[in-house]
Amino acid sequence: MSGRSAVVAGLGVYAPERVLSNGDLEQMLDTSDDWIVSRTGIRERRIAGPGETASSLGAHAARRALDDAALEPSAIDMVICATNTGDTPFPCTAGRVWLRLDAPPRPAFDVQAGCTGWVYALELGRALIVAGAVERVLVVATDVLSSIVDWEDRSTAVLFGDGAGAVVLEAGTGDRGVLGSYLNCDGVGGPLLMLPAGGSAMPANQETIVRRQHYMKMAGNDVFRFAVRALPEAIAGALEAAQLSLADLDLVVPHQANARIIEAAARRLGLDLDRFMVNIERYGNTSVASIPLALAEARDEGRLKAGDVVAVAAFGAGLTWGAAVVRWGR
Ligand code: ACO
Repeated sequence: MSGRSAVVAGLGVYAPERVLSNGDLEQMLDTSDDWIVSRTGIRERRIAGPGETASSLGAHAARRALDDAALEPSAIDMVICATNTGDTPFPCTAGRVWLRLDAPPRPAFDVQAGCTGWVYALELGRALIVAGAVERVLVVATDVLSSIVDWEDRSTAVLFGDGAGAVVLEAGTGDRGVLGSYLNCDGVGGPLLMLPAGGSAMPANQETIVRRQHYMKMAGNDVFRFAVRALPEAIAGALEAAQLSLADLDLVVPHQANARIIEAAARRLGLDLDRFMVNIERYGNTSVASIPLALAEARDEGRLKAGDVVAVAAFGAGLTWGAAVVRWGR
């Protein structure tokens, strides 16, 4: 690849300290550790503490990404934040993250594309850098799903956790960086995973509260079937855009929604599960943050080194799906 590229200059993640185990959930709901582990692969998840919000988690991750890149906040030209659980419906959480970094004003906005949001934000950052509009973009992912989970609904409550991640994307000229992407959305599947109330379609009132319509609703089986198809399609699309093949991938870091979805996607692709990073056991589904959290863990374990080619792939509410192929490092 020649010309201008967008390379990953730094990565940082953050997960709240409070751990909620399957054993804890057994005390709250009619569920069992056995059921949760065998159906999802999840053993525990992190839950935001009092006063912790999407922007506070995101700011921790952003600070770490900037440290990792050895950059001051003033070196950043733009902040894009992927989230589905912003501190408030508006103003944007990107601006709040940035404020917490005590940094000079910069263009900042949110991307809302379900759990695929961070992959969308990454592609947006890449495109702006390659177009020459900016030199460095901070791409944040943060979600506090515990704030929209119905803790009385065992079919969803056991699945989710809170977390954040961020990367610094910067202009480069070598063969590193985001090599190709694939994004898609099919609104037909929108009702399968949604938060019904609180928007213009169903403004908040006493009835929406009584009917628990401010909590996430999901048709789990339908989303499962979609995901098993969507992950391989997105990876194939991003590889095609990068003019690479499956054999070129050193690692695949999929959205961590369910270990069985990842296993089924690996089978469909004909790739050994060893090539996939899976850490859902300890975090559950952290939505937009799941890929950065898994990337950071892969790097810490020595499974992701500078020069490696990694595919990141996600699916989520929308229904959205997408992937990017990245040659890691500056
Ligand atoms: N504990 C015990 N039993 C449970 C629980 C629970 N927590 N939840 C559901 N059950 C029961 C059901 O009531 C049902 O009982 P029944 O047979 O008596 O009716 C039984 O378990 C089987 O339920 P299924 O829904 O068929 O279970 P399945 O094996 O499909 O697993 C799951 C459900 C884990 C939700 C799965 O469908 C899934 O992972 N779907 C994808 C979800 C997903 O990835 N969502 C996020 C995507 S986007 C984003 O990340 C926000």
